[in-house]
Amino acid sequence: MYSHDVVIVGSGLAGLRAALEMAGHLDVAIISKVYPSRSHSGAAQGGVAAALSNMDGDSVEAHTYDTVKGADFIGDQDAIEILCSDAPRTIIELEHYGCAFSRTDENKIAQRAFGGHSFKRACYSADRTGHALLHTLFEQSMKRGAELQIYSEWYVTRLIIEDGICRGVVALDIKTGKLEIFHAKTILFATGGYGRAFKITSNAYANTGDGITAAYKAGIPLQDMEFVQYHPTGLYEHGILLSEAARGEGGYLINSDGDRFMSKYAPTKMELGPRDIVSRSEQTEINEGRGAGPKKDYVLLDLRHLGKAKIMERLPQIYHLAKDFIDVDAIKDPVPIQPTAHYSMGGIPADNDCQVFLNETELCKGFFAAGECSCISVHGANRLGTNSLLEALVFGRRAGKKMLHATNEMKFSPVNEKKEISAAKLEIDKLLYNKGSEHLASIREELQETMTYKVGVYRNANDMEQAQQKVNELKDRFTRVKVSEKGKNFNVNIQEALELSHMLEYSELIVAGAKARKESRGAHSRDDYPNRDDENWMKHTLVFRQPDGSCELKYKPVRVTRFEPEERTY
Ligand code: FUM
Repeated sequence: MYSHDVVIVGSGLAGLRAALEMAGHLDVAIISKVYPSRSHSGAAQGGVAAALSNMDGDSVEAHTYDTVKGADFIGDQDAIEILCSDAPRTIIELEHYGCAFSRTDENKIAQRAFGGHSFKRACYSADRTGHALLHTLFEQSMKRGAELQIYSEWYVTRLIIEDGICRGVVALDIKTGKLEIFHAKTILFATGGYGRAFKITSNAYANTGDGITAAYKAGIPLQDMEFVQYHPTGLYEHGILLSEAARGEGGYLINSDGDRFMSKYAPTKMELGPRDIVSRSEQTEINEGRGAGPKKDYVLLDLRHLGKAKIMERLPQIYHLAKDFIDVDAIKDPVPIQPTAHYSMGGIPADNDCQVFLNETELCKGFFAAGECSCISVHGANRLGTNSLLEALVFGRRAGKKMLHATNEMKFSPVNEKKEISAAKLEIDKLLYNKGSEHLASIREELQETMTYKVGVYRNANDMEQAQQKVNELKDRFTRVKVSEKGKNFNVNIQEALELSHMLEYSELIVAGAKARKESRGAHSRDDYPNRDDENWMKHTLVFRQPDGSCELKYKPVRVTRFEPEERTY
């Protein structure tokens, strides 16, 4: 058994930022299934939002309003106020840590336009902003030496909560196959999102919702799981992110007729509408036969008018992605794109200090969540681009501050080591030794197709009913899945099986929440209920696991402080 005052699971921006707040004061460990610099925060491209004083007229209030409106009025406004107020300080802090932001001619931090924001407020490092921020924080954590212990390539399979107190986790050492308890006074989950359940996704292979599933299985409800964001510019068929920065820098979206179709859907913002609206507009163009290509199933991102110099200075990564993956030279030709599952608005419910809720009102002692795995909820039904890196930094720091305090006041609560290790081992052994012949990859593929085509940009009762049946069928087939690799060392086959079990578990919850929510709001858009219904649905979904494994939905109110819901036009 390992023992640390604090265990942080996840080494992206939220986890690292929290760790820096506590290192040197407490015995802090980070557990990550990947090496920290491979965390998915590094995939964010276009920027991190802040109303710096660089832009005349911009203000924290404008950023707050844009975020509330972008969230389709279901974000918790007190949390959004914290997010936006703390943004300028956060950017300066990261700059002082050494983040190489792109600069203006006056040597200020450069800012570009992004969808749904009314000012240029995305601070960026070319189109590799997440990468720059992640490496900056990783460097800072390296500098702390032994004050911060990092367990890379350890995979957390269980969260231990008893009597409302969080006590530790069980983790698998991927290198050796050994299961160990990590005992801690406080635990932070910063485990990222759950986009891998979808076929077309910008998410890393690692984003299999392990943290949220472990929390759910340990008795924590999950919030707003039905809200899954589609990013408008995923590279055709691959889903790989082509940053919104492309449109922020002036790129156009065109259909097969060469029309800038956004003039129909968001006439004032055009390509810089919020993501839910732009993704739906693309899907409508495709559905109505104006898609490009032999199958008419994509639209085009046109950067040609920006010219080579600007593309290579501001958007080098997306240039290379298009060239390397589909051999399109964005300087000469428009790039095929389609909506791609990008961001999980739902997750582990937490308060403004990242303390996790045990139910509608009570907190779980010693358990914290920050970043994409959490639902605080600053993004409501639709996140604005660049607010995710910001959230991870702002709430990672807040989690660290609160945990510093809380951990000092807590003792280690006992853990039944034998029981926890046996339960974790049983789960693995069931997979290793069952006699089934179901293929893991087929189950995963069928799940991803179902989620993309039945619970995607547009949804309806019939499709979601089919999705629910399919997920149930796949869960059943999963009990007979064949894990061919039986070894202990680096058994990625068993890891993939565990990840798939998580994807199946939470996909059911996405579908359940989406089926129940009989309205359209933000990223949840139903053909059969096309309007937002504030009277009945201005509330957060909470899904609880029942003893028989089924789920129960409950609801909790949205916190409105300054901005009453209004019609959302752009
Ligand atoms: O388009 C992008 O660069 C993505 C940014 C984000 O999701 O915040």
